[in-house]
Amino acid sequence: MSTLLSNWSTNAQSVPANYVFPQDKRPATGDITAPVCKDIPVIDLSQLEGLDRDKIVKQIMKVNQDLGMFQVINHGVSEELMDDMMNLFKEFFNMPAEDKAMYYSEDENKGFRLYTGTLNYVKDRINKWKDSVKHTCHPLEDNIQSWPQKPARYREVVGAYSLEMRKLSLRILDLFCEGLGVELGYFADELSKQQGPLVHRYPPCPDPSLVFGVDGHTDSNLLTLLQQDIYGLQIFKNGQWLGVEPIPHAFVIIICDQLEIISNGKLKSALQRVVTNTSVARTSVVTFISPSLESIMEPIKDLVTASEPQLFKSFRFKEYFGIYTAYLREPKGPTALEAYKL
Ligand code: OGA
Repeated sequence: MSTLLSNWSTNAQSVPANYVFPQDKRPATGDITAPVCKDIPVIDLSQLEGLDRDKIVKQIMKVNQDLGMFQVINHGVSEELMDDMMNLFKEFFNMPAEDKAMYYSEDENKGFRLYTGTLNYVKDRINKWKDSVKHTCHPLEDNIQSWPQKPARYREVVGAYSLEMRKLSLRILDLFCEGLGVELGYFADELSKQQGPLVHRYPPCPDPSLVFGVDGHTDSNLLTLLQQDIYGLQIFKNGQWLGVEPIPHAFVIIICDQLEIISNGKLKSALQRVVTNTSVARTSVVTFISPSLESIMEPIKDLVTASEPQLFKSFRFKEYFGIYTAYLREPKGPTALEAYKL
């Protein structure tokens, strides 16, 4: 329990050895404050109802063919709810150690988890500079009873946020349906069955050049929607790491591995990472959308043609996480997609 960074890192004068990345894997000089990437479009979702809809869908498809990331504004989730969610988790991570102790777990299979560092603090050799909360939320009634009751509004705020994020994620997935030319609702059932918040707290770090909040990776799931307060998220573009601009009340939409597979490479899983800073704690609220464990992952048949052959093998989604984790732990490379390429 004392391992939770949010319990001890404010007094840390230096970075403990089990957080220090090997010299050749650390952020390069200057990377910690890399400028923001200007190619990540900010899409105003309220414009979708107008005449420009086709143009916007085409823009989303084009940018995600090689970048895998865009931001959305006027997305329908209220600013008040977004602020409530961010503030709730700030309060959560600031609770006294005794209050957090009852939620802490090193069991990777637990439904609700407060953990630190990385997937497993004990197994993983180098820890990431963060604490995290992860659980599922869909459908709400099957999940809510396992959630914390501290802070007092946890269930109310996370419940309301989860319902809104469900609506938004299905809306965005339908834009991909339009762009890919498949029927609306294609992703609405088994392919998006699992949803949850994954909330990260990255406390200030005495030396950000030695650590990562999260090192380079693509996400294992289908789609990620991310709310961030301050700079820290970076994307790899043309051989360079660049920042993802924190825009108040926007969501960063991230294409993940399963969407790259299902779209037969027409959408690209974004290569991303998180750097830390010396002065201000960063909080990010990630909403992950994942297929059900039994879902079969494979490119949509209509997207495979003589000129665009099938790029990925077919497999059951529950196999993926083990392979993904092995990739992250070794580390073999930034993305487990390699293991499924034909
Ligand atoms: C992740 C991740 C980004 C962030 O959860 O895998 O990359 O900004 N998060 O916290």
